[in-house]
Amino acid sequence: MTAPTLLTELSDHILTLRINRPDKRNALTQAMYGELAEALLAAAENPEVRVVLLTGTPDTFTAGNDLQDFLQIPGNLAEAPVGRFMAALSGFPKPVVAAVNGAAVGIGTTLLLHCDLVYVGETARLQMPFVSLGLCPEFTASYVLPRIMGHVRAAELLMLGEAFSAQTAHELGLVNEVLPPAEVESRARQQALRLAQQAPQALLTTKMLMRRFSQRGMHESLAVELEHFSAALKGPEVKEAVSAFMQKRKPDFSKLA
Ligand code: COA
Repeated sequence: MTAPTLLTELSDHILTLRINRPDKRNALTQAMYGELAEALLAAAENPEVRVVLLTGTPDTFTAGNDLQDFLQIPGNLAEAPVGRFMAALSGFPKPVVAAVNGAAVGIGTTLLLHCDLVYVGETARLQMPFVSLGLCPEFTASYVLPRIMGHVRAAELLMLGEAFSAQTAHELGLVNEVLPPAEVESRARQQALRLAQQAPQALLTTKMLMRRFSQRGMHESLAVELEHFSAALKGPEVKEAVSAFMQKRKPDFSKLA
């Protein structure tokens, strides 16, 4: 029997969602996005859940979209499980705390922009290699990142797409704290517990207010990004990049205009 790819546990009003596909570095398939979306939608309605703790396995947060699975998505990305998951996460009314060890690639970094508190191991590597894959930023990264860190630093992350350290992520304002890997989850849980003990309505109102004024810009950027991302997914650049990854070689974009 294959292991479940999403492990859930509810205790102390904290719902832990653990991405669990370690042999593929927790790369996310459409089925896994569907599971995450359903879990979040149910958690939003469940009064027993006050906080969500999102994490991966001890060595990896997530290697992002499963590259092969991703090329098979038919039609509109917003309606695909990946779009449903990101809509559920970005619209989630309760606090979300992330505990990150190892790789957080692509959507693995993008989704952190939609969490409230982020705790990261000192050996973690974050990366948004969209351009290197023939794609473009997704789920409001092109809107949010320049606002957090300024254009030039966001451009470096998004255009060169290189991996960066937990320490850099901290300096850029993307994460709350960098910790020894073995302490990341316990620290995240400790903070989640503190949130779960806060006045619940005041917490929900605060999250709503913090997002309210950036919502219009985020909504617009989401739609435009998805349009370009969907078009790029059908193009030759991503095909070359994914073939190169599967064949464990560097992509060759030299013949593409
Ligand atoms: N999609 C599908 N399979 C993936 C994957 C992904 N995004 N990331 C890793 N895997 C698979 C590899 O193909 C490999 O499978 P195999 O054992 O059957 O060959 C396995 O997971 C282990 O990957 P490997 O690259 O050997 O692990 P690593 O520890 O050396 O490196 C990463 C880890 C995450 C740095 C590296 O796997 C990576 O860069 N992955 C691609 C990330 C990416 O581009 N994501 C998409 C963003 S849109």
